[in-house]
Amino acid sequence: MTYTPVSTMKWFLWVVLVISLALCSANSISSYNHYRLPTALRPQKYYLRILTLLENPDDLRFAGSVQIVIEALENTRNITLHSKNLTIDESQITLRHISGAGSKDNCVSSTSVNPTHDYYILHTCRELLAGNVYTLCLPFSADLSRQLHGYYRSSYKDPVTNTTRWLSATQFEPAAARKAFPCFDEPGFKASFVVTLGYHKQFTGLSNMPVKEIKPHESLPNYVWCEFEQSVPMSTYLVAYSVNDFSFKPSTLPNGALFRTWARPNAIDQCDYAAQFGPKVLQYYEQFFGIKFPLPKIDQIALPDFSAGAMENWGLVTYRETTLLYSPTHSSLSDQQNLANVIAHELAHQWFGNLVTMKWWTDLWLNEGFATYVAGLGVQEIHPEWHSRDKGILTALITSFRLDSLVSSHPISRPIQMVTEIEESFDAISYQKGSAVLRMMHLFMGEESFRSGLKEYLQLYAYKNAEQDNLWQSLTSAAHQSGALAEHLYIKTIMDSWTLQTGYPVLNITRDYAAGSAKLTQERYLRNSQIPRAERVGCWWVPLSYTTQVEKHFNNTAPRAWMECSKTGESVPTTIDLLPGPEEWVIFNIQLSTPYKANYDARNWKLLIATLNSEEFQSIHVINRAQLIDDVLYFAWTGEQDYDTALQVTNYLQRERDLIPWKAALDNLKLLNRLLRQTPNFGLFKRYMKKLLTPIYEHLNGINDTFSSITQQDHVLLKTMVVNVACQYQVGDCVPKALAYYRNWRSEANPDESNPVPINLRSTVYCTAIAQGTEEDWDFLWSRFKKSNVGSEQQTILSSLGCSKEVRILQRFLERAFDPEGAIRKQDSLLSFQAVVSGEQGFPLAKNYLMENVDFMVAYYYPQTRSMARLLPPLCEQIATTNDLNEFRAFVNKSQQSLKGVQQAVQQSLETMVTNVQWMERNYPQILSSLQRNL
Ligand code: BES
Ligand code: ZN
Repeated sequence: MTYTPVSTMKWFLWVVLVISLALCSANSISSYNHYRLPTALRPQKYYLRILTLLENPDDLRFAGSVQIVIEALENTRNITLHSKNLTIDESQITLRHISGAGSKDNCVSSTSVNPTHDYYILHTCRELLAGNVYTLCLPFSADLSRQLHGYYRSSYKDPVTNTTRWLSATQFEPAAARKAFPCFDEPGFKASFVVTLGYHKQFTGLSNMPVKEIKPHESLPNYVWCEFEQSVPMSTYLVAYSVNDFSFKPSTLPNGALFRTWARPNAIDQCDYAAQFGPKVLQYYEQFFGIKFPLPKIDQIALPDFSAGAMENWGLVTYRETTLLYSPTHSSLSDQQNLANVIAHELAHQWFGNLVTMKWWTDLWLNEGFATYVAGLGVQEIHPEWHSRDKGILTALITSFRLDSLVSSHPISRPIQMVTEIEESFDAISYQKGSAVLRMMHLFMGEESFRSGLKEYLQLYAYKNAEQDNLWQSLTSAAHQSGALAEHLYIKTIMDSWTLQTGYPVLNITRDYAAGSAKLTQERYLRNSQIPRAERVGCWWVPLSYTTQVEKHFNNTAPRAWMECSKTGESVPTTIDLLPGPEEWVIFNIQLSTPYKANYDARNWKLLIATLNSEEFQSIHVINRAQLIDDVLYFAWTGEQDYDTALQVTNYLQRERDLIPWKAALDNLKLLNRLLRQTPNFGLFKRYMKKLLTPIYEHLNGINDTFSSITQQDHVLLKTMVVNVACQYQVGDCVPKALAYYRNWRSEANPDESNPVPINLRSTVYCTAIAQGTEEDWDFLWSRFKKSNVGSEQQTILSSLGCSKEVRILQRFLERAFDPEGAIRKQDSLLSFQAVVSGEQGFPLAKNYLMENVDFMVAYYYPQTRSMARLLPPLCEQIATTNDLNEFRAFVNKSQQSLKGVQQAVQQSLETMVTNVQWMERNYPQILSSLQRNL
């Protein structure tokens, strides 16, 4: 009989599968049910060997073995580790005693499982003894996952041969390493990894470390074993490997680590920017943190299928194509800034997250908040011409203010017991609010003590794990040393009020104009205005920076006083003296250095409004102009101010020419649009918007392609943003010119090669054309989507395809979005859904689609509940009647089982809808008359 080794392999695996299935079913359920692993054992090192089979598309799988060197810290008879959906051949498990007194071989007598916590428990023949070291060897195998995590499959079309090329990649954070190999899958169990990958020699293998040696496979012809160097100690969620046929672009940076950027061969020309930017920002961090990047190499790779935006695996950072690849002819400035920001974020994690890792997911914000904040500094350093830092800060504040105004928000530092709860923590609170409170600290501590405190913290906990108290400790000693913080104040006291408590305060500032003083009180700001005062209590330590109309010290963000909390956690009312008289305003919170809202008495608002609506408006710092807009629109929403006051503030936008105040305004006004466009009086709002937008639209030369003459880069973004809303509100010649651009493109002989639509206006032009256009217009764009070789272009197109107003077209689009065999990848389905649900005509369709297909959709994304959770906010923004609210409530009750993993998002959605209903009842008549008065 002749047979090929591959078929031997198959046969062998099949036998293994049958045996282990038999064993699996015999596995008893363990009584160990705590959500954390026992601490009796500590893994020191993993030898991981994995053979990946990519030849047969109907049978893509991997098989391997892991040998774990385990130190016993206490005596125990069990080895409890994580394993999920892996087939383990129990007859092949070995357990050896390798060091310690009376060394004798050991064995595994039986196994049991705990499916709730993914435990796989081995009961040992003899007790493992404290102080001794053992090696445990487990063989395992599984299909390459069809979900976008664990060890999973991805593919792309090779345009030359028109064939599908397969590749494999990992996504382990937060808890999927256990789906790729049995391991102690908690961030606190750091160990070294020696990875060896087996694959057909037509492929390349990549992992965290550089290749040590490549040898032919002992039995499979044309297969190799590629062994990588041993890694530094690290958490399991940072292990990564990939087998692919990609090309790479080397970076050249003197004295740095070897740096390569990988993509499918046909996209390699889109790697230039990332290959330049990556090493630059890495070098900046080395200086900023004062610690060199510890690995000899770093690879960044663009994966065609990827669930998150990117992932910081140590030495092998993985990305979506849209967050790594840049095409000068297809990507907009905003795409480019986005990818710079993502690269800067992931590389910041190489220190915050990889070198020093949170002890447990409770402190996830130490990873994500830091990476978010530090990325802003990195991008600002490499691209000062973008002026992107202020925009990043404002985005962080705007998004966290919104979410954190809900009772159903959560503290930055959040107890975690289940894997689904970990997933839920990757939200605006960990990222944006985390980043905002770090910036607050940076500003009140000052540059020097912040940096030296961070450096000490990173050095103390390098290759170890830390919790937030460890950070507070390092920062306090640095701040005391430099005198940045009074000796009686501790960073922990201050920061606990921000990280352990949900929400943020509104400071009510009431001036005594005769006495030249102001009285400050604080309470939690809540969007739901029916929540009684007694439930708004809370106290935050607030560094108080402020300035006056005469001083205008907008550069001094250092606190001039503190708003303190008593020992029992009550706010201590504060009085500020030496303020000016009744003709001058005061502004608190210079450059929004602290995440709180500031409300003033009527007179102070009047003074501010007068300056804003005068030639002098720029004498107020641009971030504070954005603050005034965001704050007053919040207060009007919840009834602390009336819409007359709010619209008098926004009226000044007719003069505003800066990006940031416009961004603050448009984000808030969009919410009003969502509610008002369903009412008969939408026309009034539209007229008001036109009034605000016309001057800036004209100032920016409308939709005309004047980009080459724009010298200030943030004005490119401003123009993109303004033209986009201008077309929505039919300002000036926006719509007809957009349609003309689209017609020109459609009449190109080769529209995939040449596109006359200005890159930075494409999303507006496409959306406008699809909204106004025919089915042929839609189909034309859909074809471009299918033929496009550039991820960011594909994304722009998908978002625009949802702009249609035709029910039939939108319905078809929704179905295509979730078709597993269709042209839209799973990673992009969310974008398509969001595009449809945000539209007026799409909203009811998408809502029904979700309600009817919820089981399917949950399963489609499972267990990456973050995608599912992201479907909800654009939907609930538009629900503002009791009927619709009750319909959604009934749906939630009926689908409780399916929605289990997105509880938090569901609660937040319901609360948002409740506040929308309140808004309609309280504000609708009021805003109409205010709009009329301000037209
Ligand atoms: N560590 C995350 C990736 C991640 C997200 C893993 C969610 C598991 C669950 C990564 O550093 C990250 O934050 N990615 C962001 C993009 C980032 C630049 C804001 C993401 O995926 O949204
Ligand atoms: Zn991150």
